[in-house]
Amino acid sequence: MSTTKIGIDDIAFATSHYVLDLAEIALNNHEDVAKYYVGIGQSEMSVSAEDEDIVTMAADAALQILARHEKSHIRTLLMATETGIDQSKSAGVFVHSLLNLSKNCRVVELKQACYSATAALQFALGIVARDPSEAVLVVASDIARYKLHTSAEATQGAGAVAMLVKADPAIIAIEPTTGVYTDDIHDFWRPNYMSEALVDGKFSMEAYLTALEHSWHNYLVRGGSPINKIDRFCYHQPFTKMAVKAQTQLRAISGLSNDGQACLDQLAGSLEINRRIGNSYTASMYMGFLSLLNNDGSDLSGSRVGFFSYGSGSVAEFFSGIIQDNYDSLLRRKKDISHLNSRVSLTYEQYKKIHTYQHSSEGFDFVTPDVTRSSFRFAGVQNHMRLYEIR
Ligand code: CAA
Repeated sequence: MSTTKIGIDDIAFATSHYVLDLAEIALNNHEDVAKYYVGIGQSEMSVSAEDEDIVTMAADAALQILARHEKSHIRTLLMATETGIDQSKSAGVFVHSLLNLSKNCRVVELKQACYSATAALQFALGIVARDPSEAVLVVASDIARYKLHTSAEATQGAGAVAMLVKADPAIIAIEPTTGVYTDDIHDFWRPNYMSEALVDGKFSMEAYLTALEHSWHNYLVRGGSPINKIDRFCYHQPFTKMAVKAQTQLRAISGLSNDGQACLDQLAGSLEINRRIGNSYTASMYMGFLSLLNNDGSDLSGSRVGFFSYGSGSVAEFFSGIIQDNYDSLLRRKKDISHLNSRVSLTYEQYKKIHTYQHSSEGFDFVTPDVTRSSFRFAGVQNHMRLYEIR
């Protein structure tokens, strides 16, 4: 086995043009907003404009990474998503083109609900272990959509995270031990003929916690670090309260008390960005990791982070990594905050109109309205081909 450290050398995120304060949903549904702000731990959710999609967000996130790193080392682009735009062509090929990456680069799309970015990361680690001179661009990008007026409505969101995976990483070295778990269930899924996900909400929460327990045990059995050797935790966050429930459960099954601040202190930083973006499906745990780096408030150099990735249906993985010494100097805190603050607020009526906007599903040509201020836009469909523009 390779002794070279391999992991995430740079990480950046992108989200949508619009944002909806969950108070708008509460007002419309005649509910107490505390159900959202406190009960599920969400204050806002990102809403994509008509000319944004997983490709534009992915390219936007990755562009920040390419501004700092040599493109020629990237020989693989792994695109993780469950918001597929084509049954055959990888959304990553559009991203590759928008970023003008080398033609000598392999590109593929991975899918397994919110888990696929973790599969992409593990595959990237394997590629770099085989040839440490190569770098892999992993991009996770998703738009979470549920039907209007359902209990899942407030857990939508949109976002992308791009990560450069290489040897001697500057941000975090991923440790080799992992705990994995797969179970064929229907807690959340989206058939090909539907634009919104189907979900059994309460069952999905139980399934998430069951998968956590099994993955954690598998991680321990395979020689993973005990809970008292893990300094911070980063969970898949369909809504931030789910991460708190997960951490509470992990501590309880490990015989630790959940009294006081200890439970929250180990994950509070990871909740900040997600609380404002909502569910970004497969990007969500990595969005949480970026949030942890930006918002933890203490020097995390040398800290071990435990990650729990969950994808409905279901596949889950628990793994860990060690934060590297100079990670702090590589963060983009100011830019990240301004990215969140510059989203345009919607009223419930405006959001409803955008939610119900459907691109032609019958295969007709269409042109999207010019809305986004991002570097890339989805311009429409012509002759069954998706058109993108670079600004
Ligand atoms: N003040 C404070 N808290 C309040 C409140 C108030 N006025 N009113 C309600 N609450 C609390 C409730 O007590 C509850 O907290 P607990 O779970 O700690 O008891 C919380 O707010 C939510 O209230 P409900 O349980 O009544 O909410 P709901 O049933 O209407 O919907 C949900 C919750 C099932 C999660 C729903 O949003 C949903 O289906 N979401 C999509 C599915 C999902 O995200 N599942 C997560 C696991 S699956 C996964 O992780 C993959 C993925 O990304 C989808």
